[in-house]
Order: sequence, then C-alpha cells, then structure tokens
Amino acid sequence: MPKSLVSIHDFSKDELLYIVKQAAAFEKDHRPVFKGKVVATIFFEPSTRTRLSFETAANRLGARVVGFSDADNTSVSKGETLKDTIMMISNYADLIVMRHPKEGSARYAAEISRVPIINAGDGANQHPSQTLLDMYSIQKTQGRLDNLTITMVGDLKYGRTVHSLLQAMSHFNTRFKFIAPPELRMPEEYKHYLSERGLSFTEHTELAENINDADILYMTRVQRERFSDPIEYEKVKNVYVLKNSLLKDTKPNMKILHPLPRVNEISADVDDNPKAYYFEQARNGVFARMAIIHYLLDTNR
Ligand code: CP
Repeated sequence: MPKSLVSIHDFSKDELLYIVKQAAAFEKDHRPVFKGKVVATIFFEPSTRTRLSFETAANRLGARVVGFSDADNTSVSKGETLKDTIMMISNYADLIVMRHPKEGSARYAAEISRVPIINAGDGANQHPSQTLLDMYSIQKTQGRLDNLTITMVGDLKYGRTVHSLLQAMSHFNTRFKFIAPPELRMPEEYKHYLSERGLSFTEHTELAENINDADILYMTRVQRERFSDPIEYEKVKNVYVLKNSLLKDTKPNMKILHPLPRVNEISADVDDNPKAYYFEQARNGVFARMAIIHYLLDTNR
C-alpha cells in the first residue's frame, strides 16, 4: 500500500518538521521536477482554497492536474461506488487529493488505491494538509513551534481543522485553550488525547476575557453543513464575533489564524490589523501542499 496522508498521525514528528522546512524552501524557489506526473483532485464537497492551492502546487511542480469539483457531473451520479471511482482514478493519476463528506472515506480510499491519497477533508474528522499549512504559518510568525499557547474558538465539535491541529501540536508542548458554546465543545476523545500526553487545556465559553495570553488565536466557522437540525445551527451561528476592539490587550506578536471560509466570526475591521494573518495563511497553503505532494511522490517512487 503506498504511503498516504489521511490522518495527521500518518506523519511522524520528524516528517511534520520536514514538510514545514520544505514549505519554506518551496516558498523561496522551486523547479518543475514532476513533469509527466498527473495529480487528480476529486472533490465531493465544495472547496475554494484546498482544491485550488493543491492544483496550483501541482502545476508549479510541473505535474498536470485532472479531476472534478462536483461529483454530480461524474458517474457517481449513475450509482458508481467510491471503491470503483478510486480504482478508476488510480489507473490514471500518480496521486489523488480527495475531499469527501463521510468520515473514514479517505482511509478507505487509501486502502484500495494503487497511488497515494491525500485527505483534503473527510467530514468532521481530519484535514491534515490544512494542519501542515497552519504549522508552517505558526513557525513563520512565531519563529518556533514549541511552548506556545493556542486558543481555538468556535466549532470545536465538528471542526476537522482543529482536530488535526491539536494532534499535530501535541508534539510541541502546546498549551491549549478551547472557547466554544456548550453545543460545540471539543469532543471528549481529543481532550482525552491531550490528557494522556500530559498536555494542559482549559475550556471556556466567553471570548473577550480569554484571548489575551494567546500566541495563536485560531478562529473557526460554525459549519451549517454539519448540522442536521437548522434550528440548532441558528442558535449558535453568531456566537462569537472577533472585532478590533477585543484585540487591544492581546500579545504584540499574537496572530489570528482561520482556515477560512469565514462568515461572521471575524469582523471585516480586523482584516487590516497586523495581527490578522488568515489571508497569508491561505497563501502558505500552496507551499505546504507543494511540500506534501513532493514528499509523497518521492517516497512512493
Ligand atoms: N480551509 C479550507 O479547507 O477551505 P476550503 O473549504 O475553501 O477548501
């Protein structure tokens, strides 16, 4: 079975650090070393950043890109199974980037694919390439990954980006703060994961009084698409709104990250604050994804 990136656990601490270092190298310079290779991007859920930055990364490395952004235009709409879809695409491409709404779908695809799979998000489970670009953004802005306070805000229950990031940063003696309404608290399994490793975390419901010690303020969107009951979504959708006025006593080098898209959780007035880093963070995605594609194509050569 080829080496894939389905969960952040598929990469060791050394591999995570290697990707972060390579992302920096690709930001400075890159050559089209994968001419003749084909990368497939198959997205069963909407995406702007992840799909387009993977496609940009593959193009910059010299690979060609095939794929789809809407499964309704494929034979999935005729009833073709995920298994058969993956069997077909692994006949054509050297690497597959897949987003799918079902948790576990990427692991299943990796078990049957002839070529590496990169999980570009599987339901509320994992989004490991987002985590690697988040780590690169943290390293770039803080100058280190060790001994930081990361405050995660918003939908910590269904947020796959916070689940992957928490697990990756557990290698680096991180102090975590979780700010969420009771309905969207960090699931027990992730808190247990931290406790088992002797890492500290605290939980809060108020935003304003809990962000001044953060090195990284990781905002997330309350995701309408994860709620089966629209009334439950309406209750929590605007629970936190970050405004400039809330940032005045935060640390001078604190940076605000957000995987994006945002809805209302960061007010537009924050965009010009030097602490806002989410647009640069998204740009870093191209370099981190170049590093991931390069590593997996090289490792599986
Ligand atoms: N961060 C992220 O996954 O964005 P997209 O949904 O636009 O890919």
